[in-house]
Amino acid sequence: MEARTLGPEVCVQPLNLTTVLDLAGDGLTALGDDAVLVSDPALIEQILVSDFRSFRKGRAAQRMAGMLGRGSLLLDGDDWKQRRRLVQPAFKKRQIEAIYDAVVERTVDHANRWIRVGRQDLRPALLSLFVELTVHNLFKASVDERMGELIDAWETIFAFLADRFVDKEVPLEVEDARQTIADTLWELIGEKRRTGDDGSLLAMLIAARHEDGGQLTDQELRDEVMTIFVGGYETSATALLFALGLLSRHPDVARRHRAEVGARCGDRRVQGADLPAMTLNRNIVSETMRLFPPS
Ligand code: HEM
Repeated sequence: MEARTLGPEVCVQPLNLTTVLDLAGDGLTALGDDAVLVSDPALIEQILVSDFRSFRKGRAAQRMAGMLGRGSLLLDGDDWKQRRRLVQPAFKKRQIEAIYDAVVERTVDHANRWIRVGRQDLRPALLSLFVELTVHNLFKASVDERMGELIDAWETIFAFLADRFVDKEVPLEVEDARQTIADTLWELIGEKRRTGDDGSLLAMLIAARHEDGGQLTDQELRDEVMTIFVGGYETSATALLFALGLLSRHPDVARRHRAEVGARCGDRRVQGADLPAMTLNRNIVSETMRLFPPS
């Protein structure tokens, strides 16, 4: 049987009830009357890799771009490819490994705080951890005194964006929230331009050059940082929230997980180098994200 591919009806026009009904079938599930969920790996490969120039991000992405600007998450086609090339070196394995230990240290600090506080709502606690980790790793800066304000602003924006298929005016409080975040990012970018290369992800983005020697403009830089910020902290906090929720419902797995960490690390802290050997730990993360994809 010839492999199914998606044609121009999906690529060039917004879907409507007729096209959705025509498309629905193996690996494609109707989502209301103007969207389909793609779950066939071959079609996903077509959309994301082999035929990416034919596909445009939809209305939800346009609404997000209104809030977040045009970072790599929201670009299409060759614009995306060019930006991706520029940003990708900042996410190399070596760069990620370089932040492992700082991540563990801050996480342990937060976890000790949670233990001192006792029973509490984990979502704000995890959001605060990941905002701190993102700011630290992205900017090598601290926003401790503004943490509450920033989290409130993101929560306001996410609540607005979550309603992703409804086009509506941007309410004043959402615009205020966007401005709060934009102001903070402008400040941090300005500071980083003055202090120069400190190995942070932002410094790498500032130094990055296109093949023709051009670099990101201030606006592109801000949009990219905004995207990485959003892409980085909410997803990770949500993934960990679900993982902890699932572990609390599966105490046998939680016990085996503690035993795996204990066998590997004894009384010392987990280090980045321990992670590849901790198979159950990795499986818990993968299975959590399979069951509850954060984005
Ligand atoms: C559990 C954690 C995470 C999940 C589930 C996740 C999920 C995703 C998904 C599904 C996309 C593709 C979106 C699309 O093309 O429509 C994406 C893109 C992206 N994510 Fe994440 N992400 C996570 C963590 C992070 C972190 C920690 C960062 C950065 C600090 C990050 C930065 C980005 C960026 C820059 C893109 C755009 C890449 C491109 O299109 O070239 N993400 N992420």
